[in-house]
Amino acid sequence: MNLPEYHCLRHEQPEPGIHLVTIDRPRALNALDTTTLAELASVVARLAVDPDARALLLTGEGAKAFVAGADISQMQSLSPEQARAFSAKASRLFLDIEALPVPAIALVNGYALGGGCELALACDWIVAAEGAVFGQPEVNLGIPPGFGGTQRLPRRIAPGKALELLFTGRQVKADEAVAIGLANEKVPADALLARGMELARTIASKGPFAVRLVKQAWQRGQSLDLAQACAVESDLFGLAFSSADQKEGMRAFLEKRAAVFRGD
Ligand code: CAA
Repeated sequence: MNLPEYHCLRHEQPEPGIHLVTIDRPRALNALDTTTLAELASVVARLAVDPDARALLLTGEGAKAFVAGADISQMQSLSPEQARAFSAKASRLFLDIEALPVPAIALVNGYALGGGCELALACDWIVAAEGAVFGQPEVNLGIPPGFGGTQRLPRRIAPGKALELLFTGRQVKADEAVAIGLANEKVPADALLARGMELARTIASKGPFAVRLVKQAWQRGQSLDLAQACAVESDLFGLAFSSADQKEGMRAFLEKRAAVFRGD
């Protein structure tokens, strides 16, 4: 896959199927301006239709920030209509990240504030470097979160804890982020990328069709009641039995050998 060049991010494929996206505006602590959001949307649109994709790793350039939020200098003079459109467009993008057919992992290498915390929350899980800081400090700026924070944070962690962070703007360090279930784990800063690659490789070694079905079942089930969601799971379980991966996976188990999955 030939990857295009971008101005505000880098899209690399360090190994087959593993995509690494690095938000690259370190002088603004990787704040999300309209160009960065448009470039991210372009990457996401490509990944959404890439049958060979296996996992997405998302991180920020430099040692200081994952993403320090939406770009405040660009937002400052927005009219109410423009602000609403800005929020709606980014929210659409974050929904598209969440709906990617493959797992997305945020590698949080510093500040993940406002839109940065919301970007991490749009990923399936979060690995925090020692020194990572999470928060929704929008109330300090006189605004509520606008990229899904009021919705995803209370769905990811205990609602009462989420509302505490949303109402006060209090920021939490990596240890507390793990303790409240916001981040899955904390790793030394210099081990963050290696840990991300290890996780992506593990995912890529599993049945690709099955991994996509897990993601799809979770995504589609979230807006349904439990019985309806389990019915979706049964449909997808049935679909798996039309795949070569299911035949290979079960045959390999019974033949006591490692499966060789093709992803179909
Ligand atoms: N937007 C634009 N520029 C930003 C930025 C942001 N969100 N965050 C940092 N920067 C810029 C700073 O303006 C500064 O630029 P200059 O060197 O040109 O002055 C540069 O990045 C370095 O930042 P600091 O000098 O402030 O660095 P620091 O170490 O003193 O502080 C920080 C780091 C605590 C993260 C601080 O930069 C900060 O509080 N940033 C803003 C965090 C924030 O409020 N995020 C939420 C934004 S609103 C939002 O995201 C809404 C939404 O939901 C969509």
